[in-house]
Amino acid sequence: MSNHVDDPVIGSFAPMTISDADFRRLANFIHSNYGIDLSQKRQLITGRLSTTIRQRGYRNFSEFVDHLLNVRDNDEVTLVLNKLTTNYTFFMREKEHLDYFCNSILPELVRRHQKDKTLAIWSAGCSSGEEPYNISMFLFDYLGAQAKDWDTRILATDISEQALASGKRGVYELPDTIPASWRSKYFVDNKDGTHTVAPMVKNNVIFQRFNLMDPIRFKRKFDLIFCRNVMIYFDQPTKDALVQRFYDATVPGGYLLISYSENLSQQTPYRRLAPATFVK
Ligand SMILES: C[S@@+](CC[C@H](N)C(=O)[O-])C[C@H]1O[C@@H](n2cnc3c(N)ncnc32)[C@H](O)[C@@H]1O
Repeated sequence: MSNHVDDPVIGSFAPMTISDADFRRLANFIHSNYGIDLSQKRQLITGRLSTTIRQRGYRNFSEFVDHLLNVRDNDEVTLVLNKLTTNYTFFMREKEHLDYFCNSILPELVRRHQKDKTLAIWSAGCSSGEEPYNISMFLFDYLGAQAKDWDTRILATDISEQALASGKRGVYELPDTIPASWRSKYFVDNKDGTHTVAPMVKNNVIFQRFNLMDPIRFKRKFDLIFCRNVMIYFDQPTKDALVQRFYDATVPGGYLLISYSENLSQQTPYRRLAPATFVK
């Protein structure tokens, strides 16, 4: 069977096979550098990478994995991360949790920061930007007319360049769960039916590429870290080590918010405050 790029059927659609050894080499590379556990995801790897690998002229996975591991070519690493990360996200995800943030955490943080009027919030694993933009909308709604006196800029990081590029564009199809008043306040309508986040919301989010496996060396410590639906792709030791780094990067009394489908291990240094909500 041909694996040739020009083959209209095989070339475009059929996943290539990957040997056990190449699968292990690729999965180990991703796990040790980016924390993502793909050890049970053979089909995901062949399904998501085959077409692009062919298009780039590799005859099989072996050639591709050799090149990736030996040359560490940035383009190929970016390609693999764009393809193998799961960037699924949407506005108002786990709305009750966002309401909890707005009703219980935000009032406390705003009280604490009456003097410096600065909040340090990090959306870690922000994907295409819906989460940090959504948090900004809650902040602006809560602060109302005072918002202009506050610095609430959110650091939004991800490993996927593709996801970050969509976040920076800020163009979305909006779900019905976005209130009508928010549509007019926080978005600008485009002719094609999509919506671009309004400048004030866009300017409140600073996108940056950051690998969560790296030491956290941002200038400031955080009042609040959102890391929702990211650690589900990590194994337990990777997760525990990351939670410790988050803890060290949080101010005393600061918060970590994960998703309702996740939990932290018993040994976590944080104190559990509410479902998916932890405090230092
Ligand atoms: C499913 S999305 C979650 C998006 C958003 N937080 C939410 O809850 O909707 C997971 C994101 O984590 C990112 N990610 C995975 N491993 C990462 C790593 N090692 N460093 C930084 N981001 C990573 C992925 O690229 C992806 O965009």
